[in-house]
Amino acid sequence: MSTNQSIRPLTTKINNNGNLEIGGCGLVELAKRYGTPLYVLDKETLLGICKDYKLAFDKYPKMRMMYASKALCNMAVARILANEGFGFDVVSSGEIYTVYKAGVDMSNVLFNGNNKSFDELSLAVDLGVGRISVDNFHELELLEQILLEKDKKADVLLRITPGIECHTHEYIQTGHLDSKFGFDLTQIDEAVELILNKYKNLTLKGLHAHIGSQIFETKSYADEVEIIVKEIARLNEKFGLNLNEINIGGGLGVKYTESDNPPSVDEIARVIIHSLEKALEKYPIEPPVIYIEPGRSIISTAGVTLYTIGSSKQVPNGTKYVAVDGGMADNARPSMYGAKYSALLANKPNCTDALQKVTIAGRFCESGDILIKNIELPNPQTGDVLCVFNTGAYNYSMASNYNRVQKPAMVLVNNSQSDIIVCRETLEDLISHDVIPSGLS
Ligand code: LLP
Repeated sequence: MSTNQSIRPLTTKINNNGNLEIGGCGLVELAKRYGTPLYVLDKETLLGICKDYKLAFDKYPKMRMMYASKALCNMAVARILANEGFGFDVVSSGEIYTVYKAGVDMSNVLFNGNNKSFDELSLAVDLGVGRISVDNFHELELLEQILLEKDKKADVLLRITPGIECHTHEYIQTGHLDSKFGFDLTQIDEAVELILNKYKNLTLKGLHAHIGSQIFETKSYADEVEIIVKEIARLNEKFGLNLNEINIGGGLGVKYTESDNPPSVDEIARVIIHSLEKALEKYPIEPPVIYIEPGRSIISTAGVTLYTIGSSKQVPNGTKYVAVDGGMADNARPSMYGAKYSALLANKPNCTDALQKVTIAGRFCESGDILIKNIELPNPQTGDVLCVFNTGAYNYSMASNYNRVQKPAMVLVNNSQSDIIVCRETLEDLISHDVIPSGLS
């Protein structure tokens, strides 16, 4: 089984006290020591998925794995993944700065985004970001201006929209034709001509696409590889170029609930490499460098969130709500996409007595702040610790301060040791950017 096919971190166990543990750390103790809500990240699971990726793709030596930082970006995670040989896909000054401060080799960083600002592109150029995936005509012009001013050059890819519809939530589909991302296939030639004839400080290296996220169908990748290789061969022929870089984006899915069946990393790798080989027979180009940008599948399974149960409410003849001390501000995915999660009570994971079907409500002031609908838990009580699995991706990275609530802390667990990697926000942090103008009495 590959790590993305597990709902729980690989080190999840029941310890001698009958409590859940991850990375050798009891979750009830972690909740006590660091408070809740608490993001917990298991290093062994993270290293496990890195290994899955490295083994799966080692048949193709020109593979470059760029972790999509948007899934979860902080300095400790950047450090771990850089040590594992990953590069980084970044989409903002904040992500660029974080990986830079973590000591990442910036030549192994790739900058994506559909509306990069002047300041963001300038920072990328100043810090020596290795590749910029240019998304549109405006950005070509802006980047050239910046490079001229700084007397520098940049290696770029062109982000294209390959016209692939994959079966995932509409909001996280990105490769279909009516998408806000990238050059339409009919606009590529004009972009290439501009780079060759006008924007002389840009060096075009290849093409980039990303077809969506939480993808279970391997065929979408085969189609994508074929389309991009074909495009590269056509551009090489038409413009006398030797483009040899292909970025196929991220998107591999994970298992949030028993009904999810994502393919393994190995299956995806085989499909990608096989379709590449087939495409190279058809379209004669040098075997290209292939970038992949997995985010969710790298980090999701390694993460869980701990909450403490507070109030509950039995609607007469209806739902029983059990409320926890977090919710949509630390995990926006259920309210935003209807995402489903699995959970256990960390202090009685094995208990099958008095199972009750309950709905886990968040603490934020919206009826839509529901984390899990209709989950069976053994008589959940105030003070119980709820462990929600598979929250490593797009939870912390999409967290907000809604209701002026502090963002949770994050701990890294490994070999029975726990270390804070993100401190819990304080009330002082919350007001630290507020200013009362002197004129206000
Ligand atoms: N590369 C590009 C250009 C992307 O836009 C994305 C994700 C990735 C790579 C990484 O995709 P992944 O391997 O993580 O699926 N907030 C949503 C997911 C949005 C994904 C956006 N782009 C969610 O919580 O489901």
